[in-house]
Amino acid sequence: MRRALVAGNWKMNGSTDFISELMAELVAGIQTSDVDVLVCPPAVYLSQVKSLSSSLISVGAQNVSENSEGAFTGEISLSMLNDLGCNYVILGHSERRSLYAESDAVVADKFIATVTAGLMPILCVGETLEEREEGKTLEVVGRQLKAVIDVAGIEAFASAVIAYEPIWAIGTGKTATPDQAQDVHAAIRAMIAEHDAKTASAIRILYGGSVNASNAAELFANDDVDGGLVGGASLKANDFIAICHAA
Ligand code: G3H
Repeated sequence: MRRALVAGNWKMNGSTDFISELMAELVAGIQTSDVDVLVCPPAVYLSQVKSLSSSLISVGAQNVSENSEGAFTGEISLSMLNDLGCNYVILGHSERRSLYAESDAVVADKFIATVTAGLMPILCVGETLEEREEGKTLEVVGRQLKAVIDVAGIEAFASAVIAYEPIWAIGTGKTATPDQAQDVHAAIRAMIAEHDAKTASAIRILYGGSVNASNAAELFANDDVDGGLVGGASLKANDFIAICHAA
């Protein structure tokens, strides 16, 4: 039985005042330990969020450097995230891949560095609308997964989470149907099972892309959907709390 995880990706949003208010509401509203809850603020607010969080809300980063330290202006290291008490790092988000040219190879290096540092990567995969319409969804998702498995080895997935995020559903209000999500999640699990059946049945696969308080329950009801990676709705306390309760 896999434990559900609901992760909020705040992206480049927030301020100290906004975060104080949001965290107070989340801490008050999230009293259940039936589901793992995670928030991923912009890096400059990680310390603030960690200090305001409760034992029921983990804190993670939206990205990390594959390098350990040194002359990498603007980058953040895994030891810094460890130092702040972060447990998770989102890797290979489509915004990182498309806007910052993160290749499959770079994502794989970040994945290995994250697992080695003892943090849990949330590896994002997903296709564009054009790729879906051309019937290439599983080819794209398979390529993104293979790039990491080939370099990191399947053993590294014992301490990882995968997030399926169809790019056409991100921030568009156009959610994948529960069947579309289930089909791709089952295919991802099967791809992992080709390497190791035990890892495949244990790994959590989150759905991301316009998850909200109204559609979360039907998405999470699918056998292979183990929670969500939530963008916009994670900035609204009541919505995010409702999504956590739906998992
Ligand atoms: O990481 C989160 C995803 O990009 C989903 O964002 O919930 O705003 O569509 P969204």
